[in-house]
Formats: sequence, structure tokens, C-alpha cells
Amino acid sequence: MAQESLPGITDRRLAALLTLLTENATIVISGARIAREIGVSRSMVWQWVRQLRGLGVRVRAQRGAGYFLERVPDILTPDMLRQRLKGSLFGKHVYHFFKTDSTNRVALELGHAGEPEGAVVLAEEQTAGKGRAGRAWQSERAAGIYMSLLLRPRLAPVQAPLLTMMAGLSARTAIATHTELTPDLKWPNDLLVNGKKVGGILTEMHAEPSQVRFVIVGIGLNVNQEKFPGELGTTASSLRIETGKPVSRLELLVRLLREFENDYNRFLREGPAGVTRKFEAVSSYAQGKRVRVTNGTASFTGMTAGLGPEGLLLVKRDDGLVVTVISGDVAEAR
Ligand code: BTN
Repeated sequence: MAQESLPGITDRRLAALLTLLTENATIVISGARIAREIGVSRSMVWQWVRQLRGLGVRVRAQRGAGYFLERVPDILTPDMLRQRLKGSLFGKHVYHFFKTDSTNRVALELGHAGEPEGAVVLAEEQTAGKGRAGRAWQSERAAGIYMSLLLRPRLAPVQAPLLTMMAGLSARTAIATHTELTPDLKWPNDLLVNGKKVGGILTEMHAEPSQVRFVIVGIGLNVNQEKFPGELGTTASSLRIETGKPVSRLELLVRLLREFENDYNRFLREGPAGVTRKFEAVSSYAQGKRVRVTNGTASFTGMTAGLGPEGLLLVKRDDGLVVTVISGDVAEAR
């Protein structure tokens, strides 16, 4: 889809300016050279420098000499991602926003407009990030990874939710590779560290009765947040809080996309059994956990008893009946 028709998308030349400054970090580059290399006027360069500063990028101007970056920003520019993801399904169409309402909303729009499989929508900040069950997803600027992937798998609609679990597994591996943390997975879509949520996945799809048209897998990871507002502080955490160190969002993202692509290809080739088996093996919630399942105002308690073939959670209720949980919230019960 033509980039210009997506309001708020990061201007290609602004992204090029950021790449140029990053690749020459701490070296002063003249305004004239920047203007020449990215094809804009010198006064436009100055305007963009101001815009980048407003976005938290520390660009310094040296009178008469030019501009330089004080510190390399951990911004997920499309150019850097494309370079790092050459040859990958996700390296072709990267849509980057400094600010948007929801990357899932943008990706759904792209899906309806016929965008091919593999498009990645990324935002540094979301003003209306969507969580599961109509909840909001807090998306502090440049602190987390807020990303949506557009997929066009040949799957029946009932199988699409397995992609949520698969994405959780990919994110878990990426985090374990990059930090000393190995998150637990709570069915269907939570990544937990020390019982607190560090990530979540929201899958949305457009389908005919027997065939998926496209699926949007939205992944939110709390990476470098130092605290969470109000109530959220008791249930949410970030990789930085849990490790005590900042984590590179770019490195984590590249690893996540590589893991996701491998897992996705395996899933399409070998079917869902691998996903459900692996989920059962690594999630402390999949089997033998006492839980409360809440759906709207109704709720019950029981013991988890594995996953069904389509990835739905089985729970043996206290009255002995084994039920399949299709939707609803699962929480540990004591
Ligand atoms: C949840 O656990 O409730 C799911 C959270 C999913 C959040 C991500 S952030 C990127 C993508 N865009 C959205 O609006 N939501 C998802």
C-alpha cells in the first residue's frame, strides 16, 4: 500500500535522516551533506532535527559544522530493520510510526487494502493500544515493542487462535535468548515473569466461514519501562525491571521476527500439534494448575487438563466435568 495514504506514517526521508545520524553516531555531519544525501533542503533538515528532538532523539547541533547524535537511540527505524531482516518474510514491508492509535488497527486496514503477507507495522507509541477483551494496552513511547504482523495463512478460522499461542512461544524464545529470563506462558496470550505480565498478544482476523482471509498478530512487549502507572504496577512488569538492565528493543525485535518466521513455517508445514505440545511443555498453566476461569459475570474454578487439538484450554471443574474454555480470563486460584 502506498505509504502516503497512511496518515502519521514516518516519512521515509525522516527515517533516512535518523539512519544517517545513527550510522555516523557522535560524528558531526554537515547540514549540506545531510540535505544532499536525503534529498531535502537545509531548512527542512533543521525542521526535522527539531521534530526528532521532540520525539526524544538527542540530536545536537554544532554551530557552523552540522549535526550529531549524542547517543544512539533505540528506535526501530524501518531501514535498520530491513537491513537486519534481508531475505526474511518480514524484511520487505515495514511500516513505522512514531505515534499511532493502534498498530493492529493499521494492519487491519492494510489487510483490507490487499497488502501482501509479511507486512510489519511498528509504533514507538500507541495512543489507543488494544488489549484482549476490550482492554487498553499501555504503550509508553519508545519503551516497549508494539508490533502487528499481517499473515495470509491457508487455515480454517478455528485454527487461527493457535497463532496467538505460537507467537507467545516465539516471543518466549526471543526473550530467553536475549536476557536471563524465561517467561512463563498463561493461556492463551500472556507472557509472565515472576507472576507479572511482560507481554501479550492480540490476534484479530478477517475470514470467510471456511477460510481465513488474513490474520493480524499484534504483539506487545514491555521492554524498558521503569514503572507502570497506578494499579498496573501490581500486575505488569518489564524486562528492564526484572533484569535491572536496559534491553535493546532492536535486537530483541530482530530475534523475535526470526523466531516467529521459523515457528510459522513449521506450523504451516506440520500442523498445530507441534504448537500445542510445546505450549503444554513450557506453560505452567496448561496442566495441573488450579485456576479460576471468568467469562463476563460467570466464573468457575478447576484444574487445568491440557489443550485440545485447536489449542483450547481444558479444565476439570470442581464438579468433575471437563470443559473446554473458548474465551475468558484464566487466573491462578488458591
Ligand atoms: C493482551 O494481552 O491483552 C494483548 C495485548 C496486545 C498488545 C499489542 S501492542 C501491538 C498491537 N497493537 C495493539 O493495539 N495491540 C497489540
